Amino acid sequence: MSKKMWGGRFAEGTHRAVEAFTASIDVDRRLFAFDIQGSIAHCRMLAETRIIDQEESAQLIEGLGRIRREIERGEFQFDDSLEDIHMHVEDRLFQIVGKVARKLHTARSRNDQVALDTRLYLRYETDAILEGLRRLRRVLVDLARQHLDVILPGYTHLQRAQPVLLAHHLLAYYEMFSRDAARLAEGRRRIDVMPLGSAALAGTTYPIDRQYTADLLGFAAVSGNSLDAVADRDFVIEFLGTASICMIHFSRLAEELVLWSSAEFGFVELSDAFATGSSIMPQKKNPDVPELVRGKVGSVIGALVAVLTTMKALPLAYNRDMQEDKAPLFQAVDTLKACIHVVSEMLPRMTFKADRMRQATETGGLSATDLADYLVGKGLAFRDAHDCVGRAVAWSLEQGRELHQLSLAELKSFSDKIDEGVFDVLTTRQMIERRIAYGGTASANVQAALARAEADLDREVDP
Ligand code: ARG
Repeated sequence: MSKKMWGGRFAEGTHRAVEAFTASIDVDRRLFAFDIQGSIAHCRMLAETRIIDQEESAQLIEGLGRIRREIERGEFQFDDSLEDIHMHVEDRLFQIVGKVARKLHTARSRNDQVALDTRLYLRYETDAILEGLRRLRRVLVDLARQHLDVILPGYTHLQRAQPVLLAHHLLAYYEMFSRDAARLAEGRRRIDVMPLGSAALAGTTYPIDRQYTADLLGFAAVSGNSLDAVADRDFVIEFLGTASICMIHFSRLAEELVLWSSAEFGFVELSDAFATGSSIMPQKKNPDVPELVRGKVGSVIGALVAVLTTMKALPLAYNRDMQEDKAPLFQAVDTLKACIHVVSEMLPRMTFKADRMRQATETGGLSATDLADYLVGKGLAFRDAHDCVGRAVAWSLEQGRELHQLSLAELKSFSDKIDEGVFDVLTTRQMIERRIAYGGTASANVQAALARAEADLDREVDP
């Protein structure tokens, strides 16, 4: 049992079980660089405001730099009895610089310190994730450009519905991941608020300069209420919400790749480098990567639910429960980054089977809506056209033929408004190109959407 930094009022030492139970060092040690960055800024502010003198500040800053190097090199000793990363750094600082180390915590509490560290960490990781999403969105856009002439069936209820361009389908995912990026960027504004100086809960009696600290650490704002600043984990929850939505998008993409790489669909083939074999069935090439991406969404949603549940009904201000936010947060950040990375590497190495996709558009009555639209063009009300085409579909199914394979005479038996021009309308190409309303799959629309996406990405990289 070591002497605790808060040990002054205690007559008895901490039980070993309590030390083990309350310690968070195994989890929060990865905040070390942010903890030290925050402490250095705090020292500089304390000197600037003459709360400590320049010489003391310089000693502290040098010691903190040395600790950072020790941790980076794996030379640092971690110990449960020191609870968390904040205590570890302070304890080691005392060993290095002596009793001046005891001034570091002036005008500060671990409550505002951990809020600061978490914000610095999450701001940094948000930027990394935004960068990763930018790369993934670029991959999608590049694939769309390379496959502008590929057509596949679009589905509703997983039933073939209408033909669409593969580029249109890929750009749907571009839209999803762009919304995720926008949500992250928006949430970043609420992460980018500097809580230090709130101290334990009520603020501090020292003449600190919070704006000075915020400027040193590059924060856009300073928190306005000390109670809220140490009690707030909205920014964690918000991030996890955004991460969950993003993971849902990954899971939908992954599910399609699992389906599409099956023999039943045969729309894509994963590269050998991104598939795995079976230990018993030599013929197997399994889509384990998309499956794992699909599977990992559970843990990220779990992280969101965990932190929501931890925060629910906590009285103001700081409560130790809040220490439980970090494991789920770190795990969600890691999972999201891993998925962004592996999917960005996998997609460009996949082969799209354009022939199989096109073949799949040729059966299943995909032209039924277009035949109805054609009849509307000839003056029928849509519901009447729908009814008429429904009868034609039933008949063609009985025959084992597609609508476009019926003769003009056969088609005319369902409506005398049908003439020779119908066969033009029933080609897959026409079904695509006639969908010209903004946002539809006509190639002119898709090319314009692609150009917009490319311009957006160029702007984001080089604002
Ligand atoms: N390890 C703690 C956490 O992560 C730091 C704050 C502890 N504050 C306290 N008064 N016990 O939340």
